[in-house]
Amino acid sequence: MGSEANEANSAIAVRDLNFQWPNGKAVLSDCSLEVPRGEFWMLLGTNGCGKSTLLRLLAGLLSLPEGESVRVSGRVGFVFQNPDHQLVMPTVGADVAFGLVDRGFSYREVRDRVEDALALVNLAHLIERPIYALSGGQKQRVAIAGAIAQECDVLLLDEPTALLDPDGQIDLVRRVRDIVRDRGMTALWVTHRLDELNFCDGAVLLEGGRAVDRGDPARLKARFLSQRQPF
Ligand SMILES: Nc1ncnc2c1ncn2[C@@H]1O[C@H](COP(=O)(O)OP(=O)(O)OP(=O)(O)O)[C@@H](O)[C@H]1O
Ligand SMILES: [Mg+2]
Repeated sequence: MGSEANEANSAIAVRDLNFQWPNGKAVLSDCSLEVPRGEFWMLLGTNGCGKSTLLRLLAGLLSLPEGESVRVSGRVGFVFQNPDHQLVMPTVGADVAFGLVDRGFSYREVRDRVEDALALVNLAHLIERPIYALSGGQKQRVAIAGAIAQECDVLLLDEPTALLDPDGQIDLVRRVRDIVRDRGMTALWVTHRLDELNFCDGAVLLEGGRAVDRGDPARLKARFLSQRQPF
């Protein structure tokens, strides 16, 4: 299939994207990638290679330079690398509900959506818990519940398991994969933890400002491992 056909079937499409910080530091140079609609993909790359920057550009949280564009189809949900930058309300339930009232949902609808979203990330029992009393991993799951409650079409997650132990990490990746499948969403999940690649439909490897490889997660995992420094 040609790249134009790929783009038509994709929920996320980036073509020859360039981005540099005001201090002149170039992060993305002619970066191109697509994520097929309805699939769960991962974004891989070494520290500082630009994964968070790319995700923030996709979400519109960072302005695109003049003349640059990206295509993301539908409502976007974003899960920050650091959940303390995301959670704004005093309790778990209020945070997951944030924004739903403004969208015109009734009290009952908001309540149902919040309860459903928290159940999906296994936090239903913490609905009344203050945010400050949560662990880092629980905060990451609250942030994911917030995005799910909004019923977004495209979910962008920046290292959402960074603060979880290995059991919690694999449990969450399985849950998010299932939610994405069941709801027909598309997701792009940034990770450093290569065992997570076992659960995705495809992966993109970012290196030197470009997506240097894209496709089968097992192949990308092997490539990334072979390039890693031993120390
Ligand atoms: N606000 C900023 N101003 C200038 N440079 C920045 C800014 N934010 C990030 N950078 C730099 O841009 C580059 C890409 O950063 P980014 O956070 O996107 O990388 P990353 O791949 O997400 O890294 P990590 O794996 O550590 O999360 C890095 O060199 C970083 O130091
Ligand atoms: Mg990052």
